[in-house]
Amino acid sequence: MNVTIRKMAAEDVPAVSAIDRMSFTLPWPESAFRYEVTDNRVARCFVGETDEKRIIAAVVSWVIIDELHIATIATHPDFRRRGVGKGILTEALQDGYKAGARRAFLEVRESNQAAQAMYRKFGFEVTGRRPKYYKDNGEDAILMTLDPLEMI
Ligand SMILES: CC(C)(COP(=O)(O)OP(=O)(O)OC[C@H]1O[C@@H](n2cnc3c(N)ncnc32)[C@H](O)[C@@H]1OP(=O)(O)O)[C@@H](O)C(=O)NCCC(=O)NCCS
Repeated sequence: MNVTIRKMAAEDVPAVSAIDRMSFTLPWPESAFRYEVTDNRVARCFVGETDEKRIIAAVVSWVIIDELHIATIATHPDFRRRGVGKGILTEALQDGYKAGARRAFLEVRESNQAAQAMYRKFGFEVTGRRPKYYKDNGEDAILMTLDPLEMI
């Protein structure tokens, strides 16, 4: 399967939002993705697209001065464990570096071992905890940091 990573466009938002709803118990409203793509000047958004033009992954990141924050990342459930997550995260990190970021941060559910394993592969380390961060079940968020962020 060939997957191209490209910038997210406003037309991609319904497909991205559908993946988000399949991936998270607290999905973003579709309007939040629309805001990120069209209005948020610090946001940098990418999708993974198959040769058949199907959107199967998305990432939203924010660059604030020299810090990159991974706001959300997901792969469609039918396309996981094929390297797509690694591909789209690589794009977000490299794009963030080019935009001036030299450290990267993200929050992840304590129970989300799959995502934590992916982040560790990129060199992210656990640097903090936000107690009861997730409103649905009161789960803690683990704060993970990649410092320094370098070109891969
Ligand atoms: C996390 C997520 C984005 C990974 O996407 P993916 O396309 O499956 O990722 P990849 O195939 O590139 O896998 C990357 C690495 O993550 C780890 N990983 C992914 N899924 C895993 C699982 N179910 N169990 C253990 N490790 C897993 C592995 O280390 C994997 O590398 P490997 O396949 O070489 O062993 C995907 O599972 C997802 O969308 N989950 C729901 C949303 C989510 O949790 N997002 C992160 C929120 S912080």
